[in-house]
Amino acid sequence: MEVNKERVEEILEQYDFRQDALVPILMDTQNLCDDHYVEEETQRYIARRLNLTYVDIYEVSSFFSAINKAPKGKYHIQLCDSSVCRINKKDIIEEYLEDVLGIRVGETTADKMFTLEHTPCFGACDISPAIRINKKVYGHLTIQKVKQLLAELRGAKDE
Ligand code: FES
Repeated sequence: MEVNKERVEEILEQYDFRQDALVPILMDTQNLCDDHYVEEETQRYIARRLNLTYVDIYEVSSFFSAINKAPKGKYHIQLCDSSVCRINKKDIIEEYLEDVLGIRVGETTADKMFTLEHTPCFGACDISPAIRINKKVYGHLTIQKVKQLLAELRGAKDE
């Protein structure tokens, strides 16, 4: 999804067009997009405005996991794959999500509603197993709870 260049300019100004702020610039820019992804034309625009090359942007994007390498679904489901969540049976939640969404971890549903990914611990161990959906954390997960959550998100799809 192409981003409004005026919004990108605002982000660049916020960081004083600093080359060393490239990572937060790219992260803020991807947050403007429904698909959480900065497409090539906008990456090239950012490169020009920062006096960098497109290859510079590509290398930084490839290195930092927080910068998405492909378009994401509207709801970005990040399932914690670290030790406490593993002990608390995150595999059951993962299997359910894969079954009900019809995708594997790392994939996006055909309707572009959901992307399912693993993520390392994000500090919600006390409520594990936990997931983050578009930065909001949900914990003490059960299949019933996940089922209800997906139904709510599907119901909110026109928002
Ligand atoms: S181990 Fe899963 S949130 Fe910490």
